[in-house]
Amino acid sequence: MTTPPVCDYEGSDYQTSFWEQGGRAYEDRAEAIALKRLLPKSGKLLLEIGAGAGRNTPRYQGYERIVLLDYSRTQLRQAQERLGTSDRYIYVAADAYRLPFVDGLFDGATMIRTLHHMADAPAVLRQVRRVLQPDSTFILEFANKMNLKAILRYALRRQDWNPFTLEPVEFVDLNFDFHPKAVRGWLKETGFELERQLTVSHFRIALLKKLFPPSFLAWLDSLVQHTGNWWQLTPSVFTLNRAAGQDFLPPESGAFFQCPECGHAPLDEQEDTLTCPRCGREYAIRDGIYDFREPIPS
Ligand SMILES: C[S@@+](CC[C@H](N)C(=O)[O-])C[C@H]1O[C@@H](n2cnc3c(N)ncnc32)[C@H](O)[C@@H]1O
Repeated sequence: MTTPPVCDYEGSDYQTSFWEQGGRAYEDRAEAIALKRLLPKSGKLLLEIGAGAGRNTPRYQGYERIVLLDYSRTQLRQAQERLGTSDRYIYVAADAYRLPFVDGLFDGATMIRTLHHMADAPAVLRQVRRVLQPDSTFILEFANKMNLKAILRYALRRQDWNPFTLEPVEFVDLNFDFHPKAVRGWLKETGFELERQLTVSHFRIALLKKLFPPSFLAWLDSLVQHTGNWWQLTPSVFTLNRAAGQDFLPPESGAFFQCPECGHAPLDEQEDTLTCPRCGREYAIRDGIYDFREPIPS
């Protein structure tokens, strides 16, 4: 199976350089507010796709267990350092285009600042829908190409791409901004019903961030996030979606993982490997991380 290339964060210090030392306290707080508004009060098993170093994971309070999935092993290690090892957190290194879980396993999923890296967004959304039970919640954040700054730059001829057209813009290799209408279309065609939209980071402007404290800007942001149901002109949009239809019921076998190569479940679990009894591929369990990026070479 060929899937699009992955934006590789292996060895990246993204959490420190972008969030902790990058002057993004306002955006972080504004996102926390949006998440709080959209997350259900309680749930059993949440899939966090592109969890990175686990910046958002402590915010998923109501869920009993959380699967942190990321392609980057080093990001997951940083998440482990932040959250520790317990039954509450399951760390999985895998490609979001080939989720190693059985159909209908989860009753919730989130994908924050990750669709951003997907050259084939509908393919990933189809995978997410497959692993969700009917009626589950899916919170998807995406980077909006039709944001006010891009519109102004386009009007002033400082930018050659058109923020109003539906196709994604790849502004840096494997970094995409999307048109809200295109994302809504993909959500619908992959089996989701859109329930709510919140616009986030209205005040992502260097001068405002210099003049006002993050808490004040986040509070202002919280007052206008609800307008996201009517128009979306911010760089970031949070959507709340429901898994529609009755497809993808949870398995009666109680299986959890499936082979990302051949789709078989259940896998045989030994102390430090998972083996697919159908195709014979083996996957490593290393330092508390289930590693499905590629099979162990035979
Ligand atoms: C910008 S970071 C966001 C991390 C986290 N969600 C946050 O908001 O702090 C994007 C994450 O997506 C992961 N990622 C990118 N492509 C992926 C793929 N195809 N499958 C799984 N994870 C992927 C990267 O490794 C990275 O950790």
